[in-house]
Amino acid sequence: MTDGYHTPVLRDEVLHYLQLIPDGTYVDGTLGGGGHAESIIKKLSVRGRLIAFDRDADAIRFAQQRLENFHEQIVFVQDNFSHIKKRLSDLDTQEVHGIVLDLGVSSFQIDQASRGFSFQRNSRLDMRMDRRQTLDAWTVINSYNQDKLVDIFWKYGEELNSRRIARVIVEKRKQKQIDTTHDLNAIVERVVGGEFLQKSLARIFQAIRIEVNRELESLESALCDAVDVLRPSGRLVVIAYHSLEDRIVKDFFKKESRKFLPSGSKYVPDQPAEPRLRILTKKPITVGEKETVQNTRARSAKLRAAERI
Ligand SMILES: C[S@@+](CC[C@H](N)C(=O)[O-])C[C@H]1O[C@@H](n2cnc3c(N)ncnc32)[C@H](O)[C@@H]1O
Repeated sequence: MTDGYHTPVLRDEVLHYLQLIPDGTYVDGTLGGGGHAESIIKKLSVRGRLIAFDRDADAIRFAQQRLENFHEQIVFVQDNFSHIKKRLSDLDTQEVHGIVLDLGVSSFQIDQASRGFSFQRNSRLDMRMDRRQTLDAWTVINSYNQDKLVDIFWKYGEELNSRRIARVIVEKRKQKQIDTTHDLNAIVERVVGGEFLQKSLARIFQAIRIEVNRELESLESALCDAVDVLRPSGRLVVIAYHSLEDRIVKDFFKKESRKFLPSGSKYVPDQPAEPRLRILTKKPITVGEKETVQNTRARSAKLRAAERI
């Protein structure tokens, strides 16, 4: 089933791993079109609560309308989910029963040409999820030095042609500012071209988006805070869409579930540690064939879940 704004990915699996308690308090860190939020709130009693974050004002507006019937049980917060601990404390909420993070951007954001997330649509280079922030894709492309661009394209896009693409960007912008997604496409095409072009464009756009929105830093800090605010037996469910995000989640879960911390030397015994999480998904859950056919963007989704000890 599509939800217009965005089709929620792995909806049944999110519900399964959250193991909702009807009177519980939950956090949806990535409200988007409100698909997951709606499934959660429908399973809660009138005493249950949902605190829903999104950095994007459009997402908050859309979901507020969609979830109008539940407005007494939902608090909408336009903020980065990395501020979860502070925002929960502002709401006098010290602990929650579960948190879901469905990372990345929504179909709506990608499809809206003016947001500049897609190389398939021509628009000013933007890519901000939160349009109140000043750093945008235009600033990255027109002001970062060549080494920094190479670093971003390589680290966040794993693009093999990072060096050459960054060099042409710097050459071109000396003649004229690079204003639009299609200006940038033309540069990437000059370097890559042919059958590899689409994949390189996807990688370069992903890299810029991650940089503009500080996506990996936000995720790292949110995971730490999430464990702090989960009550015992509370559940954390994260859906990642690329290997960089998934690696962060996987490593964090591993670190927080260890009974011993490696000492770093074979002569010193490993140090006992207090694990805070129990991993519920040994391997990440991926979408089935049916869901992939209905929603191609779900193809790369990887869900990991853990329980607070
Ligand atoms: C994949 S969509 C979520 C879709 C949603 N689960 C649904 O079912 O409709 C991701 C959403 O999270 C938001 N987002 C991404 N990173 C965020 C962050 N660090 N803090 C708050 N919102 C974020 C994006 O703006 C986007 O609306």
